[in-house]
Amino acid sequence: MQETSKKIRVFSGVQPTGNLHLGNYLGAIKRFVALQDEHECLYCVVDLHAITVFQDPDELTHNTREVTAAFIAAGIDPTRQIIFNQSQVSGHAELAWIFNCVARLGWLNRMTQFKEKAGKDREKASAGLYVYPNLMAADILLYHATHVPVGEDQKQHLELARDIAQKFNNDFAKTIARADYADDFFPLPEPLIAGPATRVMSFRDGAKKMSKSDPSDLSRINLTDDQDAIAKKIRKAKTDPEPLPSEVEGLEARPEADNLIGIYAALAGTDKASVLGDYGGATFSTLKEALAELATAKLTPIGDEMRRLMADPEEIDRILADGAGRAHTIADPILAKTKDIIGFIRS
Ligand code: TYM
Repeated sequence: MQETSKKIRVFSGVQPTGNLHLGNYLGAIKRFVALQDEHECLYCVVDLHAITVFQDPDELTHNTREVTAAFIAAGIDPTRQIIFNQSQVSGHAELAWIFNCVARLGWLNRMTQFKEKAGKDREKASAGLYVYPNLMAADILLYHATHVPVGEDQKQHLELARDIAQKFNNDFAKTIARADYADDFFPLPEPLIAGPATRVMSFRDGAKKMSKSDPSDLSRINLTDDQDAIAKKIRKAKTDPEPLPSEVEGLEARPEADNLIGIYAALAGTDKASVLGDYGGATFSTLKEALAELATAKLTPIGDEMRRLMADPEEIDRILADGAGRAHTIADPILAKTKDIIGFIRS
């Protein structure tokens, strides 16, 4: 049995595409921090994913540093865990190519995120955007990672990563057995989608998820927003005319109320039931006032720390290079074994 295939190892990634927001924080980054005390974690700034849609080179560099700063400002310790940018470890691209040859077109055709991102003019989408989920599977499996903390929107991609791992293990069962692996080679990674804010919705439309690319800045709280911007956006968030319910069931069919209560619960480190215990029957304006105060207290120190870190780009680049070196140490032997299993000659 290979030790690497049994041990818990956490991997997740965030795209450096600007406007990091409250959804990224509550659905992913805040949860990355919580996992670092218990497990070995790799947190990756996925620049190869970002370029599936054209990125201005200077902005890409800036945004890569900004996501790194956000990881650290939120509390991830880059000396204990690995923080790096994807393009510095070439194994991601190599394994992605192998997975392009494992994944089936039919599987990719079902990916809802491709349909949303490509929009109506699908012919003009990059080929990279189409095979994006194969690269994501490679990110995880290159490290034999077993657990992947993500928001709800990544669930389908994680299922595809499991399908790819399974098919690779089946296709190459003969050489995997010969290479003396008592167990399957690639672990089937588990998504970790948990907590009250796995899908944070837009402040302008409770049916749309909060996103980096929404043209309205009022739709999201950015991690770099100051106190006034945070308070203003919460004050202006869309609501309905009823008072807040006392039970969680009362949030059904009330997406805006559900969203604000979920955000409050995630920021306070509690659950929706307990927030409703305090605010059931209250008006939205009471909740919004309390939420603005809580969000400011939790988020502005992160924004301030991000700005402080961004003032020293060389230090951020040094952290990324150090993380990439350590990521290589884990990835290289796994990639080498993958090549042996496939039958590639290597020196
Ligand atoms: P990305 O960059 O779009 O988002 C980063 C993380 O934030 C989560 N997220 C949300 N969570 C709750 N509510 C929202 N409104 C919201 N918006 C975004 C995402 O689910 C994600 O966890 N494909 C990935 C990046 C990636 C990756 C990976 C993740 C590349 N390789 C390997 C895990 C493992 C993405 O585009 O995330």
